[in-house]
Amino acid sequence: MNAEAKRVEHLMTDKGYVPVYTTSVIEQPWSSYSATDHDVWAQLFRRQRELLVGRAYGEFLRTQDAMGMGEDRIPKFDELNRMLRARTGWELIGVEGLLPELTFFEHLANKRFPVTWWIRKPEQLDYLSEPDLFHDLFGHVPLLMNPLFADYMQAYGQGGLRAHGFGTEALAQLTRLYWYTVEFGLIRNADGLRIYGAGILSSKGESIHCLDSVAPNRIGFDLERVMCTRYRIDTFQKTYFVIDSYEQLMRAKQVDFAPIYARLAERPGIAAGHVLDRDHVFNRGTGEGWLLDGDV
Ligand SMILES: [Fe+2]
Repeated sequence: MNAEAKRVEHLMTDKGYVPVYTTSVIEQPWSSYSATDHDVWAQLFRRQRELLVGRAYGEFLRTQDAMGMGEDRIPKFDELNRMLRARTGWELIGVEGLLPELTFFEHLANKRFPVTWWIRKPEQLDYLSEPDLFHDLFGHVPLLMNPLFADYMQAYGQGGLRAHGFGTEALAQLTRLYWYTVEFGLIRNADGLRIYGAGILSSKGESIHCLDSVAPNRIGFDLERVMCTRYRIDTFQKTYFVIDSYEQLMRAKQVDFAPIYARLAERPGIAAGHVLDRDHVFNRGTGEGWLLDGDV
């Protein structure tokens, strides 16, 4: 990494304090990646691809191949953009890191996906508290080739712009939807549970934990339930929500959220690891190692 990423402020969210960066869009400085940067990409790519066979939703791995993502080098945004534009009309834009919410929503609503241009250091292979190029490119980009999922992402951006008019609680509820689907979602097919959330796909530890551990809950997706459920950024998830198809996500986003925000404002939030009587429970977690229903 040659240039210094510029943190400008910290934002308090459900996830704790997260850094927010300058909002400018930058061209991917591809020729300035070092041999170490490419090697970090190669190591992470190899490791996750081996791990994700039989764990990730099959379409995800096939799409990575079709897009020409490989371990040989960090992909070029320009090359990926040619395929994305042709398939779903999306494009990647380079950024320094996490963006302020409104800027992020505006990009998604206009089919622009912000990708952090820099990649983590060799000593950070296992964990990084903020998105880097590996998380954004490896984890998020393949799903933007799926027309249904791409529409869901755009609808999320549009919903985010509208939610701003409803206040901070509405925004928090919407952010939980993103967290439990786009970042940490599981999908069920004939073979069992599979991973589609980018936060899992880009993490070795969570790729194993989400399917193999007895600790977390795995619960059927329910829009309002998800929007009430708190989460933590600094531990593996206590609860994973399972969808049956991307159509289910799209149907959820076609709902008018205004009455939902009003309804949920009256209700207390749900702890990250809490199970409700009306939940459709695939696995009830043992809660091993938790305090306070998984909020800590
Ligand atoms: Fe992400």
